[in-house]
Amino acid sequence: MPDAYTQACERSLTDPEGFWAEAASGVDWIEPWERVLDDSNAPLYRWFAGGQLNSCYNCLDRHVERGRAEQPALIYESVMAEGSRTCSYAELRDLTARFAGALARAGVAKGDRVIIYMPMVPETVVAMLACARLGAVHSVVFGGFAAAELATRIDDAKPRAIVSASCGLEPGRVVAYKPLLDAAIDMAAHKPSACIILQRAELAAELGPDDIDWNEAIAAAQPHECVPVAATDPLYILYTSGTTGQPKGIVRDNGGHAVALNWSMQAIYGIEAGDVYWAASDVGWVVGHSYIVYAPLLKGATTLLFEGKPVGTPDAGTFWRIVERHRVKVMFTAPTALRAIRRDDPEGRSIAAHDTSSLEALFLAGERSDPETLKWAGAQLGIPVIDHWWQTETGWAITANPLGLGLFPIRPGSANKPVPGWDVRVLDDDGKPAAADRIGAIACKLPLPPGTLPTLWNADRRFREAYLSRFPGYYTTGDAGYIDAEGYVHVLTRTDDVINVAGHRLSTGAIEEVLASHPDIAECAVTGIGDAIKGQVPLGFLCRKSGHDRPETDIVPEVVALVRERIGPVAAFKQAVVVERLPKTRSGKILRGTLRAMADGREYPTPATIDDPAILDEIAEVLREHGFPVP
Ligand code: COA
Ligand code: AMP
Repeated sequence: MPDAYTQACERSLTDPEGFWAEAASGVDWIEPWERVLDDSNAPLYRWFAGGQLNSCYNCLDRHVERGRAEQPALIYESVMAEGSRTCSYAELRDLTARFAGALARAGVAKGDRVIIYMPMVPETVVAMLACARLGAVHSVVFGGFAAAELATRIDDAKPRAIVSASCGLEPGRVVAYKPLLDAAIDMAAHKPSACIILQRAELAAELGPDDIDWNEAIAAAQPHECVPVAATDPLYILYTSGTTGQPKGIVRDNGGHAVALNWSMQAIYGIEAGDVYWAASDVGWVVGHSYIVYAPLLKGATTLLFEGKPVGTPDAGTFWRIVERHRVKVMFTAPTALRAIRRDDPEGRSIAAHDTSSLEALFLAGERSDPETLKWAGAQLGIPVIDHWWQTETGWAITANPLGLGLFPIRPGSANKPVPGWDVRVLDDDGKPAAADRIGAIACKLPLPPGTLPTLWNADRRFREAYLSRFPGYYTTGDAGYIDAEGYVHVLTRTDDVINVAGHRLSTGAIEEVLASHPDIAECAVTGIGDAIKGQVPLGFLCRKSGHDRPETDIVPEVVALVRERIGPVAAFKQAVVVERLPKTRSGKILRGTLRAMADGREYPTPATIDDPAILDEIAEVLREHGFPVP
């Protein structure tokens, strides 16, 4: 008799409609679906076509109606602002209904977009769920992005309203959001009709004539009921880095999303209603959308919203103190957070000093988990530490080790095995399946399970080109790796210019676009180099225009400031070197992989396609002068 995991995998692939129809019983529907899987427009698929529901109702109201009114829905823990706050399901439902009323008064209706540019406070969750309640489409923009990035998103999503706050809190500084928001609206061609601003105690924003104070908006509003939406209607747009500076608007639907996320809580994370679950991420990223907000609330669990960093303020024990205080059952973070904790507390004293006995597993994602850190955390905590792989596009895990279905042995270095619903393959350049252990492009056979992106916002063609055309019949993940003989998936690197900096996804192409706009720069290349804590950080190679011979010591601080101003501090762009020429192939392609190997101190064979091998020696010299360990 196969185990529960194997059975679920088999059934999900041989009878996906039966499998997901069963999972859909965990969601409350206003109208049942007509078709579980609508393949009439393949390779674009839709789940639960014809069905109607409301995602906010499923996250809040139904739990209040069924006896969880007093149960904590959300615990807010901040090491940046004063204290901790707990909101019951009834309180969160009431606040959300009122804020939905406030949005409606500001003119927001079903189908309208609302941009949310907020720090990690409970009101951000309220704003997201209020949009869902109205059938409006939220688009959360991470606070570490600069005004220009926000402006790009405003022009793409064309929001009716923007919800923001007076400030975010980063260690040692208060980030004033309002000036960034005002600058973004100035830059954007599209103008929202209203902005609702939450005033935080740490900084008061000056409100303009079109701005509405959050508290006043709530005070003036009536609670709004849940608006029925089609399962296939968009719930949110989340922008992520693509291969150019133009971010991709990942669309998430209502029905498939609710079904998959609700199912994942028990199957993958072993969470039942009433359990405390903590995803230490940011609501600006997909992990925050799925596992701070939607999935735990769909399940009727208690979610924890954490504002701060795992180290520094106050110390490396922050995570474990919170686990102890709230008896967290399962936690989720990025490997970079563990590396930072391990750097400050290699002996794990801060772990031993707290009662972490409630914790049953720690899940990691956002970047590859290095085996050393994973083993260290497992040894210190004495629980399974599980790497699992997913993307903004997929919305939930492609591979994992499913706590709820039954764990199989953990293999550090791998991202574990495909989750039920996912048919993961490694393909060679011709689209043929690669043999076990052979590296190739990782692709997933279509149709993807529910909850994954049905398309890009207003860009079906870009969706097809970016994800569906390289290997017909498959979704191209953009990741490369291999599957070993036991079926473990090893995700090694991106096949495009995406890099992961402290678990944050960035495009080197977007950074290059900014560098190239500097008046002294003729051409440039950016590559991600290894970093002990952040996993990767960007490094710029700059070629000056002829006749522009200002020294590197002048130019580099200027380009660093330019990237911070245009993309934001989250890019963590701090290093660049000036070189005379860039290494290229004979067809003119910059050899970024070779640049990366050199800066990382790895052997770098001279590529057969290189135009002028002497350039590599010049660059090696420059890098050595800057202290890089070029072999
Ligand atoms: N608003 C404004 N600025 C922000 C910001 C926000 N929401 N988030 C980050 N920044 C700024 C930081 O202040 C920092 O600025 P600085 O260059 O002036 O120091 C910069 O962006 C880089 O931030 P970050 O990458 O977070 O680096 P850090 O050194 O402050 O912290 C870690 C490093 C590892 C502790 C931190 O990145 C971390 O906890 N990561 C967890 C990863 C995570 O949540 N990933 C999500 C996917 S699971
Ligand atoms: P994001 O869309 O920000 O979630 O980033 C997705 C990308 O992060 C993936 O395409 C991978 O490159 C990388 N990634 C996420 N999780 C993992 C993991 N567990 N192992 C390896 N890479 C990962």
